[in-house]
Amino acid sequence: MVAALVPGSFDPPTNGHLDVIERCANLFDRVLVAVVRNPTKAPMFTSEERIAMLEACTHEWRNVEIGAFSGLLVDYAEQEDMDVIVKGLRAMTDFDYEFQMSQMNRHLSGIVTLFVATKAEYGYLSSSLVKQVAGLGGAIDKLVPPLVAAAIEERVSND
Ligand code: PNS
Repeated sequence: MVAALVPGSFDPPTNGHLDVIERCANLFDRVLVAVVRNPTKAPMFTSEERIAMLEACTHEWRNVEIGAFSGLLVDYAEQEDMDVIVKGLRAMTDFDYEFQMSQMNRHLSGIVTLFVATKAEYGYLSSSLVKQVAGLGGAIDKLVPPLVAAAIEERVSND
């Protein structure tokens, strides 16, 4: 039994995130998607809202569960008995930082990080750009699931 931890800010989850989660659901016995409670940037959605969105978007995959953590990722991985960390890579621009984090996590606990290449069509997709496009009145319906698009549009229209 191999358990994979898929951490992230997920503020909000995008189709790119869901592509990586689906690939993991097909590869691993157990997949724990972990929302970081204290992302570096001020989030648009609370961790509870991000968890609820991820739960709604992943309910069809029986081996996927959603959790949340604060503090060190490697401590959460140990507490939850995870075998590997999985991160999505969109382009070489992601590589430097992701590689650095994977080596720090390996230094801290020995845990393995695996990288999943995202679908080419999601190579340009990020949560921050989705929020920016929505804030400026652009269409986001092809970039995030419908319930996420509705939540962003509601948040943006109330600002
Ligand atoms: O979606 P993101 O912003 O790429 O997610 C980044 C995340 C949450 C995976 C990363 O910031 C993280 O692991 N945070 C936990 C803090 C930690 O463990 N830091 C030291 C490891 S480099």
